[in-house]
Amino acid sequence: MPRLIADRPVLRMTSELGRVMAAARARELAGERVLHLERGEPDFDTPPHIVEALAKAARDGYTHYPDQRGEISLREVLVQKLARENGLSTHVDDIVVTAGGTHGLYLAMQCLLSAEDELLVLSPHWMAIPKLVGFASGARYRTLPVYLELLSGVWTPAEFATHLRAALTPATRGIYLNTPNNPTGAVLSREHLAALAEVAIERDLYVISDEAYEHLTYDGAKHVSLGSLPGMAERTISVFTFSKTYAMTGWRVGYVVSPPAVRSVFGPLLAFYTTHGVFPASQIAAREAVTGSQEAVHHMRAAYDERRRLLLDGLAGGSAVRAPVPKGAFYAFANVAAARNGRDLWDMIDEWLGFGVAALPGTAFGPEYGDWVRLSLATRAEDVAEAAKRIAQHAGAGARA
Ligand SMILES: Cc1ncc(COP(=O)(O)O)c(C=O)c1O
Repeated sequence: MPRLIADRPVLRMTSELGRVMAAARARELAGERVLHLERGEPDFDTPPHIVEALAKAARDGYTHYPDQRGEISLREVLVQKLARENGLSTHVDDIVVTAGGTHGLYLAMQCLLSAEDELLVLSPHWMAIPKLVGFASGARYRTLPVYLELLSGVWTPAEFATHLRAALTPATRGIYLNTPNNPTGAVLSREHLAALAEVAIERDLYVISDEAYEHLTYDGAKHVSLGSLPGMAERTISVFTFSKTYAMTGWRVGYVVSPPAVRSVFGPLLAFYTTHGVFPASQIAAREAVTGSQEAVHHMRAAYDERRRLLLDGLAGGSAVRAPVPKGAFYAFANVAAARNGRDLWDMIDEWLGFGVAALPGTAFGPEYGDWVRLSLATRAEDVAEAAKRIAQHAGAGARA
């Protein structure tokens, strides 16, 4: 029997999201109403002008094999966007259009990690990350819990650097960073990023900077791209996506900015031989997303912000469940230690489904988060408010039982 990739322990892990969604679905089929706070996908449709641009591009013949780095006209506008919004000075050949951020992250792992290499994953982390590391044969990851500490402001930049240094091993090849962070909503300050940069330069590490939620920040928090810090452009692989900002999850369009040293590897080798590129008409529509009206983006951001307030205010109304105020992305990561009250987290998740709220267990984001759940704001405001009310009313029940 040949050895299969699925035999790698990290790839055998089951999906917490799949389990919650299946349990929610079963209840819906039985006629119960479930408020979906488990999903990480914008509930908005793609803005119409982007859809129109796709249709026109397809009619105009953007239907052939794409350029191996991506449509040049898209990469040209991205050079401007990256300079304007991210402080990144790039050349068109530094940018590679990928099949969403997931593909960009996959390529970054493939590019950086060989057998025995270790990636330091700052946590809690997006649930796909262990799998993406696992695809790089023989590579491993180690987690370092940081985002809750940074969100609550308990670590100075110097303390952050100390924790980073302590977590590195001789096998560490790079760091995976995600700001704004899924699931906590932490947005790292320039000073904290500078501390990370200092450690990366000192230890000659690459950083994979996942900026999927770059446009979703609140309360005046500002997204800073790590690659814009002195000395970091040559060691940062920055991963972007159209999925969240423009509600384009199904389109599978993202892009990566890679340092010149890996330029020849990213587009012509990795991107080309894994997907042969992204549908050209989608790329032309993505160009329209960047250059066209940003009104829909502002509208969606404002809606997530309003839901964020509804959730936090609703939770504050009585339950044992508390979430640190998220400053970015569209999630709240809530502490359920009191509501769980020593029970298995899945028992609590089932209890919550029983009063109509689907939430994602914190263990999806790292084994150390058994006292946490992620609540998504990517669902209707009324549902967010109602879910918060039900949690506030019922979530203490387990604690008292
Ligand atoms: C932190 C983070 N990075 C990357 C992605 C990838 O998104 P996509 O592949 O749709 O671009 C997601 C999606 O949930 C995410 O949460």
